[in-house]
Amino acid sequence: MLGGITSMVLLIDLLSNLLKTAFECANYQKEYGVVVQSSRPDLCQFQCNGALSAAKIYKTAPMNIAQSVINHIPKNQIIKEVVVALPGYINIIVNDEFLTQYVNSIYCDKHNGIPQAEHDETIVIDYGNPNVAKPLHVGHLRSAIIGESLKRIAQATGRTVISDVHLGDWGLPMGLVLAELEERYGDDIPELTTDMLNEIYPYASKKSKTDEVFLNSARKKTSELQRGDEKSSEIWSQMVKLSVQDIKKTFDRLNAKFDYWYGESDSSRFVPCLVDALRLNNLLVDSDGAKVVFVNEKEDKVDIPPVIIIKSNGTEGYDTTDVATIIQREQDFHPDKIWYIVDYRQSLHFTQVFRVARKANLLPDSTELTHLCFGTVNGKDGKPFKTRDGGVMQLSELLDSVAECAYNNLRIDSIDESSRKQIAEKIGIAAIKFGDLINHYSKDCIFDMEKSMASDGKTGVYLLYVIARINSILEKVKKSDLQRVFISNIYSQSERELLLTLSKTGQAFINAFNEKAPSIVCENAYQIAVAFSKFYQESHIISEVDKVKKCSWLSLCIITKDILKKHLLALAIDPVEKM
Ligand code: ARG
Repeated sequence: MLGGITSMVLLIDLLSNLLKTAFECANYQKEYGVVVQSSRPDLCQFQCNGALSAAKIYKTAPMNIAQSVINHIPKNQIIKEVVVALPGYINIIVNDEFLTQYVNSIYCDKHNGIPQAEHDETIVIDYGNPNVAKPLHVGHLRSAIIGESLKRIAQATGRTVISDVHLGDWGLPMGLVLAELEERYGDDIPELTTDMLNEIYPYASKKSKTDEVFLNSARKKTSELQRGDEKSSEIWSQMVKLSVQDIKKTFDRLNAKFDYWYGESDSSRFVPCLVDALRLNNLLVDSDGAKVVFVNEKEDKVDIPPVIIIKSNGTEGYDTTDVATIIQREQDFHPDKIWYIVDYRQSLHFTQVFRVARKANLLPDSTELTHLCFGTVNGKDGKPFKTRDGGVMQLSELLDSVAECAYNNLRIDSIDESSRKQIAEKIGIAAIKFGDLINHYSKDCIFDMEKSMASDGKTGVYLLYVIARINSILEKVKKSDLQRVFISNIYSQSERELLLTLSKTGQAFINAFNEKAPSIVCENAYQIAVAFSKFYQESHIISEVDKVKKCSWLSLCIITKDILKKHLLALAIDPVEKM
């Protein structure tokens, strides 16, 4: 129960409860009664392997334990058949009536059968992470896609999530742009435009690599900005405003929605507090004019360098703002967890930041700090994804190219041009997102346009296609064919398999949350789509004359669509009506 709202119990937990009671009644520890999905779907739907582990402790043959346990299973309406199989498995098949009821109630349940967290839990997710004055690239794409999905999965399991884009708006890149603007225009800087920023940053960044004088003036500008210099701040505000407008457009296309557009600069006012905390704990050490914290530990296998809190020129770097942001988050949200969705190249940075935070007790020990480090986006050749001429692929270009490909593949004629474009955009984005999320985030992601745009196989396009197919079935039937959405019976094996797959939804979401792995939701959605396609091929839904059967089948279509959409919503993928 959660504030008077009952959330549904997972089918495997209902089964586990029965088996646990049976183990206890047979004088074994009830913990052995855990039921899992079957590893042999040809033999059974669920299984319990507890007798095998119990055998070692109780020095009894597993088959004997299993037999005695199944003799003690309490009378119930869930299990149809339970048998013991060598070397001591307990194999379970569920009653059709129960399965039917269970799936009907998933449909009626406000949370689609996903058990809700029993205690309030707040998670801050830091993702997206664009930088002011720099164009978004494919790395930001992955952060946005993975972060948005994790946010939605956590919300679907009843957690409170705070999403923060953590804009890169405070370090040397700002100084580089400010210095270059001054060099070009002196005091008379014209009204900035996005195109100007897109051109200036790469130019200034390159120049700073060879021009020491320029680099120093950029450092000076950074320091002026951080000290609140009026003129620098004014230009900087313009830069931030322009960049954010532009970034929002692209993130909107990705359905990435943030509660906060805080930047590194917003943590600046927490730096004095950070310095106090570090001093109080005797952690701040002078080193060549800079103030640093040593974070290396005896057990370290690689060298973890000290963290520079205040540089010798008085400025705050990326490490400092990240630590200070922890103070801000603790003060504002008091989160139970903070997750950072940032690529693997920043692993050292987060190790350092987390260590400083722990040493200085900036948050309770129980607060989880996790860097979910993802791999790079590679092309089919396995190398980091580039444009045709070898440059860094900008995110908006990539999105345009998939939308164009989807547009060219579109086979429906009966729609106007603007709906066509809208549908193509959704299909393209679904293809990219699913192609990314289906793999575990820690792996590099291969961007293969052809493969992710395929209308069959494990693709986002296939999922959209199944939903569009269900829509077209529902369009063809009369309203009177469907009195209410209710599956009344199971008529075939393919239908049973579809129901079984649908019944795993809650489990998939819980596992995806616990393992921070949207890939589990992707996989379950795909399994549902495959099971539906098989059921659809075998059942002549529209021409069925038996009214009760037809109504039950149509209900199954509606329920499948509803549950598939729940999965897509969690992946931030928009379905399309037709395609
Ligand atoms: N803006 C940074 C980049 O583009 C990533 C920021 C990640 N988040 C954080 N809290 N450090 O590389």
